Amino acid sequence: MSVKAVVFDAYGTLYDVQSVADVTEDAFPGYGGIITQVWRIKQLEYTWLRSLMQRYEDFERITRDALAYTLGSLGLEYDDDSFARIIDKYLHLDLYPDALAALSALKDRKLAILSNGSPGMLDALVRNSGLDRLLDAVISVDAKKTFKPSPQSYMLIEEILHVPPAEVLFISSNPWDACGAKAFGLNVAWIERVTPEKMALACLESETLPPLTMFWALRTQMDELGVVPDHRIHGLAELPALVSAIRS
Ligand code: 2OP
Repeated sequence: MSVKAVVFDAYGTLYDVQSVADVTEDAFPGYGGIITQVWRIKQLEYTWLRSLMQRYEDFERITRDALAYTLGSLGLEYDDDSFARIIDKYLHLDLYPDALAALSALKDRKLAILSNGSPGMLDALVRNSGLDRLLDAVISVDAKKTFKPSPQSYMLIEEILHVPPAEVLFISSNPWDACGAKAFGLNVAWIERVTPEKMALACLESETLPPLTMFWALRTQMDELGVVPDHRIHGLAELPALVSAIRS
C-alpha cells in the first residue's frame, strides 16, 4: 500500500483544544481549568448522545450547549458577551506547533480534514490558521448528520477524495476516533501525546489532581475497544517519515 491521502482529525489533533484555557480563565478567574475540561468532555458526550438518540444538531450548537452546561453546572453566571468571547476561541484555536511543517512536508499527497466540526466552524478555523493553503479538502460529518465514530462519517473520505480506505492514512490523537477509523477500515496513526509515563508522573506530582489530569486519563489514553491503530506516533513531526516508510 502507498499512502495517497492523509486525512486529519481537527480538534485535538491539528488544533489544540486546550488553548481555550486562556479565554476561560480570563472570563472566570480561577475556573479556567475546570471549565476547559468539562466543556470538552461534555461536547464529545453530546455528539455521542445525539447520535444514539438520532437527534442530530451540528457541532456549533453542541459546542454552545456544552459550554452552557459547563458554566451552569459550576454555578457561574454569564452574559451574552462573555459567552460569545469564549465561544469565539473555537474559531481561533492554536495549531500544534509542528502542524504547519508536517503538512507542508506532505504536500505530494492529498491532504484533508475529517471533523465533527460544522462547515462554518471548520472553514473559519482553517482560514484563520492559514491551513487553507495546504489542504485539498475540509470534510465535515455534517453531510451525514451524525458524528464520528459512526462508519457513515468515515465513508465521506472516499466519497469526497475518491481514494479508497486502503490508500488513506487517518491521523487522530483522540483514541476513540483512532479506534473508530480503524474499525471502519482506514489505516490509522494515533498520536499519543500523553504517554503512560507522563500520565503516571502527573498523578504522582499532585495531591489534588487538577482537571487536566482527569481529562488526560479519560481522553488521551488508548481505549479498550478491541481495535488497535496501525501506528503510534508522538507528534505531527513524526508523520512525514512514517508516510514515506509505509509501502508494501
Ligand atoms: C473532530 O475534530 C471532535 O476532535 C473531533 O472531529
